[in-house]
Amino acid sequence: MMMKINKEILGIYIHIPFCKSKCIYCDFVSVTNQTLIDKYFEYLLKEIEMYKEVLNRFKVVTIYFGGGTPSLVNGLYIEKVINKIKKYNDLDKLLEFTIEVNPGTINRKKIEIYKKIGINRISIGLQSTNNNILKMLGRIHDYEEFLESYNLIREVGFNNVSLDLMFGLPNQTIEMFESSIDKVIKLNPEHISAYSLKVEESTKLYKLIEKGILEEPNEELDRNMYELLIDKLGENKYNLYEISNFSKKGFESKHNMIYWKRENYLGLGLAAHGFVDNKRYGNVISFDEYFNIIDNETKPIEEVSDICEEENLFEEIMLGLRLLRGINYKEINKKYNIDFIKEHNQEIVELLEEKMIEMNNERMWITEKGMSISNTIITKLI
Ligand SMILES: C[S@@+](CC[C@H](N)C(=O)[O-])C[C@H]1O[C@@H](n2cnc3c(N)ncnc32)[C@H](O)[C@@H]1O
Ligand code: SF4
Repeated sequence: MMMKINKEILGIYIHIPFCKSKCIYCDFVSVTNQTLIDKYFEYLLKEIEMYKEVLNRFKVVTIYFGGGTPSLVNGLYIEKVINKIKKYNDLDKLLEFTIEVNPGTINRKKIEIYKKIGINRISIGLQSTNNNILKMLGRIHDYEEFLESYNLIREVGFNNVSLDLMFGLPNQTIEMFESSIDKVIKLNPEHISAYSLKVEESTKLYKLIEKGILEEPNEELDRNMYELLIDKLGENKYNLYEISNFSKKGFESKHNMIYWKRENYLGLGLAAHGFVDNKRYGNVISFDEYFNIIDNETKPIEEVSDICEEENLFEEIMLGLRLLRGINYKEINKKYNIDFIKEHNQEIVELLEEKMIEMNNERMWITEKGMSISNTIITKLI
């Protein structure tokens, strides 16, 4: 009798580096020059071919098209990518297939193509329901256009939709943020991601703050907004399951869980990152390099790093503590031959007293109270 080999699971991230225009806060790799779209997809298909061995060896459980703005390109490009992957993996174990969309870049035809090719989750960037804030951020849409896109997605029959919100923004009062939360709750999405603004050095926002034209985010206000968010969403049956992510029961993002649980994932496309066979890699970020390297029939990788034992431990604790379910320190102790509790005894006692963390006889997790200072807590425990 043939032995059945249990394949390991794999997630696939595919980066689509095009946007209609650049938002002032964003440092994700994307360009507004759309003339490169056709060539980019031609090369993306070639890159996929180079991973046929990996695609064949694993069981693909999630696919995620991120950006940039994947919804900017014709849906047929997305279909071509999936058909290419299907040449090497029948995708019969695919559980979650997500695409990020921007309001104002989709129409019924595009969403129908998404449905047809098996996409079962849509993540849509709203950021705020306040039109002045959206304008200040350089978003291409207002709240009303967002509503049109959201309703269209529901009409076509998507029943797993995630919304992105941002807080700690210049000129954003707590009342404005509260109004965004209330409006979003009424829309009843299955999943909400909410990010505290990070001012990245390469962005227009950074320069505007430096020149004193926009105000720097206020840490205390940012924390108050986060606490309000946790309270309001909690009251409305959204569970905080990761620092920035909330969902209705059963709608946690399976793809992101792969990152946080340190499972294998392939990163395809410009600037994409992957983690396969305990090696992390990052693709090049310039289009020219991406095209040239692929022309030489080589994977367009900028750097690969083997993860040593110490880094594995570090990542496991850091990523695990981002999740509300926390880490299993008993397993960690066994795996790395350490005594986690003993090594951090003093910090743990203090954090327990302050009710920032909780633990039982095998797990330790950051409490909802602790989540707003999670970075400080994690730093103390690694
Ligand atoms: C990959 S991005 C872009 C998705 C999509 N293109 C959009 O803008 O709607 C995913 C999310 O990251 C968040 N984000 C991007 N830059 C950020 C920053 N500097 N600080 C905090 N959140 C950020 C935004 O909420 C954004 O929707
Ligand atoms: S936030 Fe989204 S739409 Fe705006 S520039 Fe970044 S990737 Fe593009």
